[in-house]
Amino acid sequence: MISSATLILLLVTGAAPVATLPNAAFKLQPGADGKLCLGCHDQFQIEVLKRAFVHTPVKARVCTGCHNPHASSHAKLLELPGGALCLKCHDTTVPPVTAIGSSHQPVAEGKCVSCHDPHASANKNILIGAGNELCAGCHEKIALAAASAKFKHKPVVEKGCTECHNPHGSEKGRSLLKADVPEMCVSCHPTDKAIFARQHSNYPVAKARCTTCHDPHGSDRKGLLYQTVHPPVAKQDCAKCHEPASSANALKTRSPSPQLCRNCHSEMMDKMTDSARLHRPAADGNCLSCHSPHASRRSG
Ligand code: HEC
Ligand code: HEC
Ligand code: HEC
Ligand code: HEC
Ligand code: HEC
Ligand code: HEC
Ligand code: HEC
Ligand code: HEC
Ligand code: HEC
Ligand code: HEC
Ligand code: HEC
Repeated sequence: MISSATLILLLVTGAAPVATLPNAAFKLQPGADGKLCLGCHDQFQIEVLKRAFVHTPVKARVCTGCHNPHASSHAKLLELPGGALCLKCHDTTVPPVTAIGSSHQPVAEGKCVSCHDPHASANKNILIGAGNELCAGCHEKIALAAASAKFKHKPVVEKGCTECHNPHGSEKGRSLLKADVPEMCVSCHPTDKAIFARQHSNYPVAKARCTTCHDPHGSDRKGLLYQTVHPPVAKQDCAKCHEPASSANALKTRSPSPQLCRNCHSEMMDKMTDSARLHRPAADGNCLSCHSPHASRRSG
């Protein structure tokens, strides 16, 4: 066993374990590097170090874990630029990029400090904003709509955006989702209950993409359906377009897209085909290349 006196000697002479105190090799007293810096940068003593959450290397006064004390070709005397600095010690934080996954633009651009204060913060995880406020800084429209929706989605307002989204990226699905749809929805909404089947007119939706009809962030529409719901869907007349719920392939539509639409929109479609100029996708009957048959965030 090494006595503490020997350990200090080893550290000061730089002869052995220097990993924990990077400046021991430069003959500084243990912890002296931080003290040195704080002597002139008194804002740290006055305010920064008193915040509720102090970044561990800052708490340990290892300022030189990030800053070069003499010179640097990067801003703020930083040893490495942007995210590379943080990834030096946090190489497992950002999930690897995968074919089915997604990445968050500010993370991919290495802008870790657009969400984290490198030194200290009043918020957990040294975040510059608390809870949904952080996300609202850049996603104002979604955050505002979620908070003011007539029918709020409980996890969004009670647990927060990170209940469903990984802020750094996802290996498992689009939109930074921690689990893809429908797996994520189904984990909180059991689909094997009679009431779930009834709510969907007994159609087998358990494996469907729930978000083709439901807005995961909240809605002014009952049942969290998107703002614009196709009337036959709102009335739960699924059978107007699909095979009967009891049939073996209930999700098959009664006819392919343009004929299906003609059943109820013949007047509009006749007027369309009588026009002098027809938009190519409309002429081809590709109604679904522009419209969702069920519901949409936008009108139309
Ligand atoms: C003798 C006083 C003194 C000491 C000791 C000192 N600094 Fe500074 N530091 C300054 C002054 C003066 C500036 C320039 C004024 C300003 O931008 O606030 C500065 C600026 C900086 C900047 C900003 C550079 C930029 O490009 O804007 C960083 C980062 C910094 N110091 C880090 C450190 C670290 C880390 C230590 C300890 C290893 C340290 N300083 C020790 C006086 C000092
Ligand atoms: C984990 C890395 C890291 C550690 C450790 C660290 N800093 Fe910084 N520091 C940064 C980054 C990153 C910036 C630039 C922030 C920005 O661009 O918004 C910065 C900026 C600064 C600045 C410029 C003024 C400001 O606040 O933007 C000073 C001064 C500074 N640091 C001093 C220190 C001192 C003193 C210590 C030790 C007590 C320290 N830093 C420890 C990463 C660190
Ligand atoms: C010199 C190594 C080092 C660097 C560089 C570094 N960190 Fe850390 N960071 C740590 C250590 C050590 C912890 C303590 C938790 C752990 O062991 O992971 C930590 C913890 C964190 C935490 C969790 C909250 C906390 O305070 O425990 C966040 C968030 C974080 N760092 C963000 C950053 C960001 C952003 C950067 C770049 C500006 C950065 N780190 C650069 C060493 C570092
Ligand atoms: C869009 C905002 C945002 C950006 C950009 C961001 N983070 Fe984070 N980070 C968060 C949030 C939010 C948490 C808390 C996660 C939670 O509550 O589940 C967090 C947590 C962390 C943690 C602690 C928990 C963990 O996952 O290990 C570390 C370390 C961390 N971030 C490092 C980084 C690094 C390194 C970067 C840049 C490559 C970065 N962050 C960029 C928002 C961000
Ligand atoms: C510094 C700005 C910034 C902050 C803070 C921020 N984001 Fe983002 N986010 C972006 C940008 C830029 C994009 C890409 C353009 C877009 O889709 O708006 C994006 C995209 C996204 C996407 C879509 C990704 C995809 O693959 O389609 C999600 C989901 C997301 N952010 C969630 C969050 C959450 C959750 C938070 C809070 C933890 C957050 N963002 C905080 C800037 C930010
Ligand atoms: C209950 C889970 C859940 C919560 C909580 C949640 N989201 Fe989402 N979010 C989703 C799902 C699912 C999608 C993908 C929607 C789709 O497939 O069309 C998504 C998509 C997104 C997108 C990208 C696509 C778009 O709609 O523009 C952004 C940005 C986003 N969410 C931001 C946020 C923000 C900000 C918060 C917090 C206010 C939040 N989310 C909370 C589930 C959630
Ligand atoms: C973390 C758990 C969780 C996740 C994930 C989740 N939900 Fe919810 N959801 C809830 C809770 C809790 C309620 C409120 C239920 C209540 O008040 O009885 C709710 C309410 C709803 C409602 C309104 C039903 C009602 O009773 O008011 C719908 C529709 C809904 N969620 C759909 C979804 C969809 C679609 C997804 C996937 C994008 C999803 N949920 C993901 C927990 C979750
Ligand atoms: C106006 C006609 C119409 C009505 C009404 C309708 N659907 Fe559909 N549905 C379609 C069409 C068309 C498709 C094929 C979509 C595609 O290929 O993009 C489809 C596809 C589906 C799918 C499979 C795709 C997915 O989202 O995963 C499910 C599940 C579904 N519908 C369930 C329902 C339920 C439940 C109702 C009643 C609440 C309903 N539909 C009402 C036209 C309709
Ligand atoms: C084809 C469109 C469609 C799809 C796909 C769909 N739903 Fe629904 N869902 C509806 C409709 C329509 C209602 C009835 C809304 C009402 O009560 O007005 C409903 C009702 C619900 C309710 C009860 C809402 C309430 O207010 O009581 C929940 C929870 C729910 N769905 C969750 C899910 C989940 C989870 C998925 C994916 C596994 C899913 N839905 C897929 C259309 C759909
Ligand atoms: C190139 C994209 C596109 C295609 C293809 C398309 N639509 Fe539309 N449709 C739109 C847009 C955009 C609107 C909204 C127009 C507005 O708000 O003034 C709309 C509006 C509508 C409306 C409501 C307003 C009205 O004119 O009655 C109906 C019904 C409609 N479309 C049916 C169809 C049918 C049926 C098909 C297939 C034969 C189809 N659309 C093909 C883009 C398209
Ligand atoms: C069972 C009858 C029925 C079928 C089948 C049907 N619709 Fe509709 N649709 C309606 C009714 C009712 C309205 C509301 C009155 C109107 O605008 O004609 C409507 C409205 C619309 C609108 C306007 C939505 C808005 O914002 O007001 C569009 C777009 C549309 N339908 C597209 C389609 C497409 C594309 C198809 C084929 C996949 C289709 N419809 C099949 C009954 C139907």
